[in-house]
Amino acid sequence: MSQWIGTANYGFAAYAMEELRRLFNDIKFTQLSANEIFRMELTLGREEVLSALSDNEPMFLRHIQPVDRTLPIHGNADDLQALSELVRHARLRCEGRTTAVHLRRADSTPFLYSAADTKAVIDAVLTEMGCEPTMQAPELILSIYAGRTELCIGWGTPEEQLSDWPGGAVRFQREDGQISRAKFKLLEAEREFKLDFAGFRQALDIGAAPGGWTHLLLERGLKVTSVDPAELHPSLSSYPRLTYLKKNASDVEFKHGTFDLLVCDMSWSPMQMSKLVLEQITALAEGATAIITVKLMHKKPLQTIRDVIARLSESFELKKAKQLFHNRDEITLYLIKR
Ligand SMILES: C[S@@+](CC[C@H](N)C(=O)[O-])C[C@H]1O[C@@H](n2cnc3c(N)ncnc32)[C@H](O)[C@@H]1O
Repeated sequence: MSQWIGTANYGFAAYAMEELRRLFNDIKFTQLSANEIFRMELTLGREEVLSALSDNEPMFLRHIQPVDRTLPIHGNADDLQALSELVRHARLRCEGRTTAVHLRRADSTPFLYSAADTKAVIDAVLTEMGCEPTMQAPELILSIYAGRTELCIGWGTPEEQLSDWPGGAVRFQREDGQISRAKFKLLEAEREFKLDFAGFRQALDIGAAPGGWTHLLLERGLKVTSVDPAELHPSLSSYPRLTYLKKNASDVEFKHGTFDLLVCDMSWSPMQMSKLVLEQITALAEGATAIITVKLMHKKPLQTIRDVIARLSESFELKKAKQLFHNRDEITLYLIKR
């Protein structure tokens, strides 16, 4: 038997649970934070669950932490003391490993301490135990969820928890003069799909305006062709590696095999978007990568995604489909041209 806390983007927990129900026969859910965070209990043990999740990662499950231990919350200083004792005696196997402490607090929790206070105290315990406290790129994460009545504590690698950020809430630094928040989606996709855009040569960005994605690819050193009937941000005109076509994507044509990367962030009907992407297929080199957002426009996202993937499968192999933290009513596809 094993217990877990699952997290999805706000409004999408029901879809994460539906995907999990399809993956595991015997699973029970309890809601922790409406439409977002839930606790789940399975008859399967930890290793079996992790292996099933790694083979079939649910698109809408952003983060998962095991519940290895629980502690009642009293709402006073004893809570932090009890947590320290628990960590000291847990078999964390963190010796010599960089270890991060992630605390998430439910709105209604009586647990008094902030993430920073908790981390400071637990880091000292970890150091005594021979672990190496860290904030970034940890080998192990000690995740703590402070709920209404209890602390749920679990540990695992970032891969097992599907993220190295608390609850999978990936944060990027806002930059001065940032063109659009959309840039965060592509940055997150690069991390999530373990890509390095700097390794590509030439990109086609369809639905590019105002140009956050185009900007990131230019920063990575690529030649970029951006297509959009709307205006790109004027700051982009300083890049000689940019070609801007102020056109509808259905009105452009390129030489065969020109691009090794296609990105598309059109907030448009998923089927129309698929059609436009497929029209550009000959412009892509064999094995080209595509990163595409799929707008979930109506009430059946799982069906919409299945239909889009089936349509794109004519010409692409799907590597991964995931709702990223920076996706709102959409998911992101990572595809390779067949
Ligand atoms: C969400 S915005 C893209 C944001 C962009 N990724 C960024 O980082 O700034 C969607 C864009 O798709 C464009 N678009 C919609 N339909 C299009 C079409 N048929 N051809 C080209 N662009 C289109 C819109 O004009 C709009 O600028």
